[in-house]
Amino acid sequence: MRSTPRPGAVGSTVRRGLVAAAVLALGATAAVATATSASAAVACKVNYSASEWQGGMSANLTIQNLGDALNNWTLTFTFPNSSQKVSQGWSGNWSQSGSNVTVTAMDWNKSLANGGSTSIGFNGSWSGSNPAPTDFKINGVACNGTTPVSPSPPISPSPQVSPSSQVSPSPGTSPSASPSPAVSPSSSPPPPGEHVDNPYVGATGYVNPDWSASAKSEPGGSRVANISTAVWLDRIAAITSGSAGNNSKGLRDHLDEAVKQDAANGDTPLTIQVVIYDLPNRDCSALASNGELKIAQNGLARYKSEYIDVIAGIMADSKYSNLRIVTIIEPDSLPNLITNVNAFQACQEAQSSGAYVQGVQYALNKLHAIKNVYTYVDAAHHAWLGWDNNFQPMVNLFHQVATGTTAGVNSIDGFIVNTANFGATVEPYFTINSTPGGQSVRQSKWVDWNWYVDEQSFAVGLRNALVAKGFPNTIGMLIDTSRNGWGGSARPTKASTATNPDTFVNESRIDRRIHAGNWCNQSGAGMGERPKANPTAGLDAYVWIKPPGESDGSSSAIDNDEGKGFDRMCDPTYTGNSLNGNNMSGALGGAPVSGHWFSAQFQQLMQNAYPPLS
Ligand code: GLC
Repeated sequence: MRSTPRPGAVGSTVRRGLVAAAVLALGATAAVATATSASAAVACKVNYSASEWQGGMSANLTIQNLGDALNNWTLTFTFPNSSQKVSQGWSGNWSQSGSNVTVTAMDWNKSLANGGSTSIGFNGSWSGSNPAPTDFKINGVACNGTTPVSPSPPISPSPQVSPSSQVSPSPGTSPSASPSPAVSPSSSPPPPGEHVDNPYVGATGYVNPDWSASAKSEPGGSRVANISTAVWLDRIAAITSGSAGNNSKGLRDHLDEAVKQDAANGDTPLTIQVVIYDLPNRDCSALASNGELKIAQNGLARYKSEYIDVIAGIMADSKYSNLRIVTIIEPDSLPNLITNVNAFQACQEAQSSGAYVQGVQYALNKLHAIKNVYTYVDAAHHAWLGWDNNFQPMVNLFHQVATGTTAGVNSIDGFIVNTANFGATVEPYFTINSTPGGQSVRQSKWVDWNWYVDEQSFAVGLRNALVAKGFPNTIGMLIDTSRNGWGGSARPTKASTATNPDTFVNESRIDRRIHAGNWCNQSGAGMGERPKANPTAGLDAYVWIKPPGESDGSSSAIDNDEGKGFDRMCDPTYTGNSLNGNNMSGALGGAPVSGHWFSAQFQQLMQNAYPPLS
């Protein structure tokens, strides 16, 4: 943890040049043809929607199988204009010859049951005009949207697949438009072990004795040592003997201890948070938290049998059935498939092999099956996914991952943003709709055409989009607030009066990072909001997932047996790259390997806590 936002994999030009992305949402035309096939009757419907800007586009396609089950599929279509080109595709193998585009299925989405669908997409370029293709064929048969027997209703562009209209606030629209209210907890307390809508409501949080001891060993640390933080299962050995750093307890030790804390607590239920973090090719776009498993070395099979199966086996023990066990599933993994496949070979492999998708689906299947276990899938943060060209593809991928699990969309209880990151929960002195000197803050270098300026507006916007896409209204969002407080003397106390958008934003923002893409041991950060249930509509809780004081990565190369690399984003002398606008890394010096205790950082996080520590 934690990789950069890297929206740049689809090109910083793409997001910088984004001019109020026009939406082209077109249903596949009804080029009526009769589906003929020797064996299986192929019948299909393709919805195509693209946001476009001068010279560029980002398109999403949903293929729906209306005919017999398919074991494999190939989609073809023709661009109407010879300038239209695919530059990067996802969730399929994309190729183009002249104007003819061919997409073959990936292993993980090649089977499509009758009624099943899959979403794919691409980023591309054009000049002159950018008409939508209309001649979609699956395995050579035109997709006319009708089943062989009964005609389906005319295809209309589904709002679910039109990227910016639904989910991105347009200027003047508040991104924090309130989500439809989540189901409210019932008034009488649910029986222990019942799967409730929001596991944080009415519960106390597990205090990890390992982290608590580290905190207490620091002067002033006892002020925070009783705050609930997550247990990270960051390698197979962590299941039995503790994670990186000074943590000595395995999963059973933690759950046994949780049962004790629960018993000492009267009738109040106890919530314990466990981070599932060992996918093969982990942290594929960065080095600091690379892990032990590699796809090329049978990593996915080992992940399933030596990691997930073992964890699920322990969690399913009836001794633990009254605990509310929250699992945080694979930080950064699925977001890396959206933005980092082009630039990073390890991410490319994670995508083409299907290892991330299948690994997450496997984890969801095993964990969701346990009644008192809750699943929250990692959704990166606003400065990673908050641009149009990343946002809807991410929503689509989450949906596709979920629909590929046994329980479908119900296998996911919610999503978490800002895991181990530093984005402010709420920027108090400006919003995405602020217009210093009559100009949008979106044009400032800091916001950089993003649609969100903080984590809470992003979490709510993402939730709305996920529900629009088909997730149940019961999903709830979490924000990791362990290190995003930004108190201390550098914190602004009011909105700037400057009329220049850059000056205005730089003087108003509480997030004091040099660049929002900086992610490693950020200098100046402070502990954020303390864990809290139901902080606002649509959010299940503010949580402390990254244990404050545990490093994000070493400042220089350090030998270790955990598979951790040295990422220069953790080196305070590093002058950056295109992914952080060629800025300094903003990292504190003297940091140990990720996950290990970093006393100086812990001290600074306490000092700059906001709300301040009492
Ligand atoms: C990082 C480390 C991991 C650690 C976690 C929590 O992601 O790679 O080992 O457990 O942070 O500190």
